Amino acid sequence: MPDKTSIHPQIDETNVPRHIAIIMDGNGRWAKQKGMPRVLGHRSGVKSVREVTQAAAELGVRYLTLYAFSTENWNRPPAEVIALMNLLVDTIKGEIAELNKNGVRLLAIGDIEALPKHTFQALKEGMELTKNNTSINLVLALNYSAKWEILHAARVLAQKAIDGLLQPDEIDEAAFESALTTHGIPDPELLIRTSGETRISNFLLWQIAYAELYFTPVFWPDFGKQELIKAIQNFQNRERRFGKTSEQL
Ligand code: IPE
Ligand code: IPE
Ligand code: MG
Repeated sequence: MPDKTSIHPQIDETNVPRHIAIIMDGNGRWAKQKGMPRVLGHRSGVKSVREVTQAAAELGVRYLTLYAFSTENWNRPPAEVIALMNLLVDTIKGEIAELNKNGVRLLAIGDIEALPKHTFQALKEGMELTKNNTSINLVLALNYSAKWEILHAARVLAQKAIDGLLQPDEIDEAAFESALTTHGIPDPELLIRTSGETRISNFLLWQIAYAELYFTPVFWPDFGKQELIKAIQNFQNRERRFGKTSEQL
């Protein structure tokens, strides 16, 4: 568990987002800028994953969701897709002992059963090994798209209705959420996207209904603890009104 004295002096520890979601973007451009192949950008991005996970745990974040591979990313050149899948396996296998030692619980969202077998297997083993850990929940979004997730939930609920287990008017927010791959995970309060792009790219559409959005030009391989602290400070300077007026808060 993070020690209170390690919490950054500029962070208000009573207002740290419980859940931060990150669209890790810009690996390719980071590499290109340095005259290197894109895959080296992805490899450098792993360093950021390590640093940001550690920092988030220290700062008291309970859930960190990282968008690692979207459903749309299958449309990249086959060699890049293969490199990404291999990197994922190597990363999970290489990092899992350290993650486990640090009390990190690995989770995944998305259509993970449709991943290549070795990727799915490494993921499953990592989740199994770390399932009782409590320091931080590291949620990897893999073969994830929000529209896929919402359609999947609609199908699950429709089947339940057909089976007589659910009446249509019983489908409220809680019932719908129970059919999402994020069930049991609180909605993110803060969504970060690196690399200067200001779009959501089919990520967590349901769950970010009231999230604060933070966009930074920094490419993912250059995003580390200091950048995370900046994002949290920015979040802490916002007024979250949830439909009310400022005076009502
Ligand atoms: C993010 O970096 C990693 C993945 C989407 C897997 P990109 O590969 O999208 O990098 P850019 O956007 O081309 O710079
Ligand atoms: C979003 O990044 C997906 C991940 C970070 C895994 P992309 O780089 O694929 O997004 P678009 O296609 O530019 O919107
Ligand atoms: Mg990109």
